[in-house]
Amino acid sequence: MSLSPFLSPPLTLRGVTFDPPLFLAPMAEISHSAFRRLVADFGGAGGLFTEMLSAKMLLNEEMHRSPWTKRRACEGRVIYQLLVVDTKKLPEILEHLAPLAPDGLDLNSSCPAPTIRAMGGGADLFESPERMCGILRVLRAQFAGPLTVKIRLGIETDGWRARLGERLRMLRGEGVDGLTLHPRFAGDKLKREPRHELYAELAAEAQLPLIANGDILDPHYIHSRAAAFAPAAGLMLGRIAAARPWVFAQWRDPALVVDHAAVWQRFCDYVEEDFVAERALGRVKVFTAYFSCNFMFGHNFRMSVQSAPTIAAARERAANFFATGPALTRHINLCGL
Ligand SMILES: Cc1cc2nc3c(=O)[nH]c(=O)nc-3n(C[C@H](O)[C@H](O)[C@H](O)COP(=O)(O)O)c2cc1C
Repeated sequence: MSLSPFLSPPLTLRGVTFDPPLFLAPMAEISHSAFRRLVADFGGAGGLFTEMLSAKMLLNEEMHRSPWTKRRACEGRVIYQLLVVDTKKLPEILEHLAPLAPDGLDLNSSCPAPTIRAMGGGADLFESPERMCGILRVLRAQFAGPLTVKIRLGIETDGWRARLGERLRMLRGEGVDGLTLHPRFAGDKLKREPRHELYAELAAEAQLPLIANGDILDPHYIHSRAAAFAPAAGLMLGRIAAARPWVFAQWRDPALVVDHAAVWQRFCDYVEEDFVAERALGRVKVFTAYFSCNFMFGHNFRMSVQSAPTIAAARERAANFFATGPALTRHINLCGL
């Protein structure tokens, strides 16, 4: 394995090449157009997933304007992740999405959030193979590009392994091109160790390219588990990218140095450009919760931005914090994020 693993070979799905095979994870309230633009400024990712987009809500969006859907040329390859619970209006929804020319569509079958599961999406869809199958058939029939599915291990009850095997075979049978696996159970949320050691047997069973996800921080994380990650065709990074939008660039260039204050301010600029004022402040607060982990005393920074009544106030508080020359943490701990 090279010093920086997963810079090659690229991953090609249905004729679309993702180079390098490093992906920004779909993250609700984070992976919007402004954040993807920031990640793209640094470069280094071969594909950026949108946050999960409620398929039904898409019909109400102005696709080229909405921060949930619009894409900029600088982003490179964008994969739209869909939260779908049934096939009603799905062809119409996909037609509405088509002008954005997605580089891939991804079906969310992993989200463990109770509200999403209650509506029949995410991890609940994974437990309903017939419904999932029906949705995949429509997606496959209507979309000619790469179709991927993001899953966890399912629900940790007797027979989980057999159920998972059935789902993997079903995905292949329905023409899915690739799979992102976050190897935790639905009930684990982001706790417990991800079971990266399962990639070999699950990739063999699925016979699909597998994108590995869960707690990946940097090349050292992969090197220290080289055998487990060897069967993966790509990697997906989530929370570490929210904390360090330059993580993909740093993957290639570990010596990369960034100006943290400038990055935070640029994020605010981008958010204000893409979001209406009522929404923009919330996005800045969510981002700051992750970004503040770069600092030894980031807690104070986070709290001062959390309580800011306006973006202008958040900017002023951030400027005061950055003016103190805050010390950086060497290692980011994803626990609790
Ligand atoms: C704030 C937040 C929002 C998330 N939203 C989504 C989502 O919209 N769709 C999805 O498939 N996973 C979502 N996830 C899960 C991530 O995509 C990823 O699987 C998880 O964070 C583990 O990867 P990481 O350890 O690199 O963060 C979310 C995670 C976080 C922390």
